[in-house]
Amino acid sequence: MSRRPVRSFTLSGSAHKKSRSSPLLSVGLVLLGAFLLIGYSYRNSGGEGGGGAVSRKELSGISGGGSCTLDVQQAIPALKAAYGESMSKVLHVGPETCSVVSKFLKEDIEALGVEPYDLEEADSGCKSLVRKGIVRVADIKFPLPYREKSFSLVIVSDALDYLSPKYVNKTLLDLTRVSTDGLVVFTGYPGQQKVTAADQSKFGRLAKLRSPSWWVKYFAQTGLEVNEDFAKKFEKASSKQSYKPNCQIFHLSS
Ligand SMILES: *[C@@H]1O[C@H](CO)[C@@H](O)[C@H](O)[C@H]1NC(C)=O
Repeated sequence: MSRRPVRSFTLSGSAHKKSRSSPLLSVGLVLLGAFLLIGYSYRNSGGEGGGGAVSRKELSGISGGGSCTLDVQQAIPALKAAYGESMSKVLHVGPETCSVVSKFLKEDIEALGVEPYDLEEADSGCKSLVRKGIVRVADIKFPLPYREKSFSLVIVSDALDYLSPKYVNKTLLDLTRVSTDGLVVFTGYPGQQKVTAADQSKFGRLAKLRSPSWWVKYFAQTGLEVNEDFAKKFEKASSKQSYKPNCQIFHLSS
């Protein structure tokens, strides 16, 4: 019974003391506040909420268009759990693919990348991946420079959002052409992006973010099937690992 009063006494007590003798305490309180704020914006970035991806992007200091790039990186454990052996050779297609490919390689997963846009600001690590032929720069409106079934799994993030529906189906079919076990599509929710002038000049056009129902219908029209088995396994692994993606994720059969 005496607990509640004691706690409130402690709180008001420290508030009084703060100004007099404890700068450390105020620093601590400010840090705690910042911590709570950050936690709050993380929590808020879960659903269809507007600025979710952006606030996370700002926190991690990543600029540019790849709003799902971080999602892909964070999804790797869940992808591994869901796809198992099918992760033996991965192709990632999308902006900032160097960072994604590096992450896969760190996890001992063989991975190649296709960067659909200019690599003007590539760091030395990225340049080295390009030199080794691990990452290639290629316009995905054209067939990918790989043979049929070159990869067990293909993952595409963001890149499709910059293509008109006339090209998306061609590109999707080409992505399934080079994979044996599946294609995973990461794409933003409508209203999720914050477009900057820099993005627009970099990508040539604005991303067109489509709704989940638009995609599902479009996949069906293109003759692509959602792989319910992998989708279920992935969802289960995600929730087990408390991974909450900001982007829509589709699992398609090759
Ligand atoms: C893609 O869709 C367009 C219609 O938007 C259609 O004319 C074209 O034949 C389709 N291409 C493929 C490869 O399915």
